[in-house]
Amino acid sequence: SIPRRVKIVEVGPRDGLQNEKTIVPAETKIRLIDMLSDSGLSVIEATSFVSPKWVPQMADQMEVMKGIRRKPGVSYPVLTPNLKGFQAAVEAGASEVAIFGAASELFSKKNINCSVEESLQRFEQVMVAAKAAGVPVRGYVSCVLGCPYEGKVAPAKVAKVAKRLYSMGCYEISLGDTIGVGTPGGMSEMLEAVSKVVPVGALAVHCHDTYGQALANILVALQMGVSVVDSSVGGLGGCPYAQGASGNVATEDVVYMLHGLGIQTGVDLPKLMDAGAFICHSLNRRTSSKVSQATHCKL
Ligand code: HMG
Ligand code: MG
Repeated sequence: SIPRRVKIVEVGPRDGLQNEKTIVPAETKIRLIDMLSDSGLSVIEATSFVSPKWVPQMADQMEVMKGIRRKPGVSYPVLTPNLKGFQAAVEAGASEVAIFGAASELFSKKNINCSVEESLQRFEQVMVAAKAAGVPVRGYVSCVLGCPYEGKVAPAKVAKVAKRLYSMGCYEISLGDTIGVGTPGGMSEMLEAVSKVVPVGALAVHCHDTYGQALANILVALQMGVSVVDSSVGGLGGCPYAQGASGNVATEDVVYMLHGLGIQTGVDLPKLMDAGAFICHSLNRRTSSKVSQATHCKL
């Protein structure tokens, strides 16, 4: 049976913007995050503390963290690939972080310049520091349904990395279909394997919509008991180290589907759509959200 309430993790300000070629002013990012806070979202991934040489768009992470209006009850996690990133994040006032690994060796190398095993050792260091500082840590596994460099990825590989991240203390494991190649059968098979080693209550799905399969894949995950869904306002985004990957599934579309299923999210859809309109206007881009494209329909 499907969950009655779903937590949405809004990743637009980070995953949505990290791939934009033109640098988006920090002011715009701050306004976007504030608008998202006002829409009722409870988790908004704000930025990442990665190398500015690797991802120039996130070089203003300190300014963004200092500029946002933190709404009580909302958390603003940030990506931290290593101890250096973690320390900078804490200095910037981050009270939650995310470490990000992969189920595929080649993607790990391209994305964070180390093997999967090396990355897990770095994450252990972040975890030790985070535990000492009382900072909760979320864990990502990328390429759970396919890799741009290796192709098919075995569910057993995903389960192995997910289990390691969970055992080291991540409170939640987000399973990323980084390039959006998965279909519902693959999602089901992968979740079957992962939920044998990590409780389903600690799992999230993070679907990119490159092949238009995201909502179908999310529905399967909900039917299997997953109650945390990552998405990006306006369907913005992509990963700079996964060519051709489109944005995450649009938050507006996820909220529309969940509410239609009678599932609570706490999100005010019109306010969320305002945030989507704001950022799409700023980027001079048409929204990828089908729901927002159909704004004439009254909800
Ligand atoms: P590296 O070059 O191997 O790192 O990069 P290094 O330790 O050798 O250091 C090289 C330089 O980077 C040094 O500076 C360090 O100080 C600096 P230099 O001496 O040359 O001036 N450095 C840093 N600077 C700022 N913040 C840091 C940091 N660490 C080192 N944290 C590194 C390794 C991990 C840093 C690099 O590969 C990197 O930044 N990668 C990030 C890639 C990224 O952000 N990808 C997108 C996010 S993941 C994603 O989108 C997938 C997800 O959405 C889920 C899904 O969809 O599947 C999460
Ligand atoms: Mg992603």
